[in-house]
Formats: sequence, structure tokens, C-alpha cells
Amino acid sequence: MSEAILRIENLSIGYDAGICQIHALRSATLEAHAGEVIGIVGESGCGKSTLAAAIINLLAPNAIINSGSIYYQGTDIFSLNKDAQRKLRGQDIAMVFQDPMTTFNPVLTLGDQLIDFQQHLEGVSISEKRIRATNLLARVGIPDPSLCMKRFPHELSGGMRQRASIAAALLMQPNVLVADEPTTALDVTMEAQIIHLLRELRSDYQGAIIVVTHHLGVVAELCDRVYVMYAGQVVEQGLVDDIYHAPKHPYTSALIACDPAHFEEHTPILPTIAGRLPDLMNPPQGCSFAARCVLANELCRTTVPPWVKISQTQSALCHKASQ
Ligand SMILES: Nc1ncnc2c1ncn2[C@@H]1O[C@H](COP(=O)(O)OP(=O)(O)OP(=O)(O)O)[C@@H](O)[C@H]1O
Ligand SMILES: [Mg+2]
Repeated sequence: MSEAILRIENLSIGYDAGICQIHALRSATLEAHAGEVIGIVGESGCGKSTLAAAIINLLAPNAIINSGSIYYQGTDIFSLNKDAQRKLRGQDIAMVFQDPMTTFNPVLTLGDQLIDFQQHLEGVSISEKRIRATNLLARVGIPDPSLCMKRFPHELSGGMRQRASIAAALLMQPNVLVADEPTTALDVTMEAQIIHLLRELRSDYQGAIIVVTHHLGVVAELCDRVYVMYAGQVVEQGLVDDIYHAPKHPYTSALIACDPAHFEEHTPILPTIAGRLPDLMNPPQGCSFAARCVLANELCRTTVPPWVKISQTQSALCHKASQ
């Protein structure tokens, strides 16, 4: 496989919470290659957005990078100065947010903003920028892109706004596109349309796409490889097929067992994984999932699990994975 465009090594990030720290991300390691779509899945609060925010360099002000590195095309982005980091964000690494209003300023037309987002392009006239933006709006499936350029963000439906924010991200021709829950704010029909759009983009997009989601269904439809997160840690990684058909971490198995796609439409109560996430201010001594794991024994509760390599493409952070 080619050299990774993005490589995250042992990244640990906490949030300053006064007298203590919330250990939102612990020793996360991940890589993304050109042309790949990576999924990051896990329950609410497991650190997915913290990881995404670190990649795009938009961490909350109270975030503390405790250790680790993020390499973009071999350069450690934490070692860059603020200007270089800002340039990277947007031009090389772009983000699609859950709420598209995060991308847009409500008091400016989409056209003005999409032109403004191209300010770094030297030697390109305003009218050329307008054409580029209009073409991209058409590319993401906006029916009347010229009219859309004249609209204010609130004049579009949620689905159209999300399409426009994907166009905004693609305007920069980024090498890495990070989408944090891009469909969560949408209804089921719109969600299907946005997934369809991202699938289409896959074929003509050269970079890596990283999709953060709660939905295993989104991962199955869109991704090549998956990183499963639990309590701030990546606990399993592998090809989509590995993860769906032969999960090795009991947390991955539990997530799959709870996936609504496995149930008849009329199932009144969807199963959830019993128990709660551990306290991230004081993470457990052994395996983070031990308290909820049906297979856990004394070793799991007391000793940090090793990374077990299952195959060339799959590994799991679990004492039991090698058995
Ligand atoms: N700015 C912050 N200050 C303090 N704690 C935070 C902050 N941002 C996130 N957290 C905490 O860090 C942990 C990880 O949060 P994060 O948003 O990364 O999870 P997530 O997997 O994206 O969750 P969700 O699926 O709900 O979006 C959670 O316990 C969360 O409450
Ligand atoms: Mg999140």
C-alpha cells in the first residue's frame, strides 16, 4: 500500500476540567491512504469528535495534547507554526461538520462565502471562482446552483445545506476530507442521499475520506476500513469485511449485535450494550471495556490489554483476541 497521507501515532488528548482532566483520547493510532474511506465508529462520548478535531486542528480551547503526533504527508502538524497550521486546515485537510451552519455565516449569501473560501487561490479571478463554486454545487447535486449561490444558508433545506458544505470543503481540493457525523442532523431520506453523494465522490476523489459516525450502516455502505473506538481508545481496526463478519473485540461484536439493521422494522425495543462508558477522568486500570464485557476475567480488569494482530488487515486491543 502507498505511504499514508495521514498518520496518527499514540495520540492522547485530555480536556481541562478544573481539578482534573477528562481523558477523551488515549493512545490513538490511525492511518489513512489516498483513495481510502475510513470509518470511525463508537458510542457517544468515546472520543470520535476529539480525534476528528485534532486532525483538522480545531480542538476546543481547554484541550490538552498530552502526547503523540499527527503526520500529514510525513510532516508533524503539531510542529508547524500557527500560520502553517491554518493553511493546512482548509487547503489540505477539510472538514464537513454535523451541523452545516457551522461552515456558513448566516448573514452572507452562499455565493459570497464559496468565493471567499477560495481566497488563497492566486491568479484566479472572482468570476472564475464563481464558476468553480457553481460547478461544485452542481456536482454535489444542488438543482439550481446559480440560484443557490444567491441564497442565504437558512433559505436551504438541511440536506441542501449539507450538500453545500460538502461543496465548500471540496473547493480546496483537500487531500484529506474529515466528515464528523455528516448525516446525523438529517432525516432518513436526506441521510440516504448524502451517503449516496459521498459514495459517488469516492470514485472521482483522489484523497482520503474519514467519516465519523454512530451508524454501522453508514460504515458498511461507505468505508473500506474501520476504526472502532471505545472510551477514548481505538480498540479494533480492520477492513469493513473483517469488522462485520469476524469482529475480534467483544465491544465491536456488541456494537454489531445492537445495530438496528439487524432487526425487523417493528422491533419495539432495540438492544443496547448493558452498562455505561467508564469515567474518563479516571480510566480503568485494565481493559476499558472489562466492566461491560461478557468475556472479561481478572486479567482483563487489572492489566492493560495488548494489541493483537489477527491478520495483515485486522488487529484488536484485547486479551481474548488471540484465543
Ligand atoms: N471541550 C470539552 N471540555 C470537556 N470535556 C469535553 C469537551 N469536549 C468533549 N468532552 C468530553 O470528552 C469525551 C469525548 O467527547 P467526544 O465529543 O470526542 O466524543 P464523541 O465520540 O464524538 O461523542 P458523540 O458521538 O456524542 O459526538 C466526552 O466525555 C465528552 O464529554
Ligand atoms: Mg462527536
